[in-house]
Amino acid sequence: MSHDRVSSSTFLGRFVARDQGLRYRDRYRTGRHARVDRLERAALRELMADLGTLHRVLDLPSGTGRLSAVLAEFADRVTLADGSSTMLQIAREDLNGLPADYIQTDLESLALNAGSVDLVFATGFSITSKTAHCAHACSANSPA
Ligand SMILES: C[S@@+](CC[C@H](N)C(=O)[O-])C[C@H]1O[C@@H](n2cnc3c(N)ncnc32)[C@H](O)[C@@H]1O
Repeated sequence: MSHDRVSSSTFLGRFVARDQGLRYRDRYRTGRHARVDRLERAALRELMADLGTLHRVLDLPSGTGRLSAVLAEFADRVTLADGSSTMLQIAREDLNGLPADYIQTDLESLALNAGSVDLVFATGFSITSKTAHCAHACSANSPA
């Protein structure tokens, strides 16, 4: 079993085992979650279409890449970053062939160089720390 660097986080702990990761991915393929998935994809396509083609988009945390494939339709390259190597491995299997990079990292300690990504897309997590509280966010970071 792999040992994730940030597995002490209770939330992250839900996504460490492979069966948990697969369950998360598959949940969005049927029933109510499938409808949510369709709506989120459509909304994301609309948002992305307004931005035009981007060079590099960061999906943080990417999970199993549920929305990374949509981001890839509008960018030359997508970076998937997540604290769980398991989630990233499932994404890598599912997104086989997509121009993508995979980074295992704690989202609170990810260091980004200025201008290294055109867009940070973030959804499906919450951070509670002294400095941040974030539920659903999608923020653009214009390159210099
Ligand atoms: C509910 S999933 C959302 C994934 C994706 N954004 C989506 O909408 O399908 C939450 C993801 O956050 C990751 N995660 C939780 N805590 C994290 C942390 N501290 N650093 C990096 N990733 C984290 C989990 O591994 C999981 O893949």
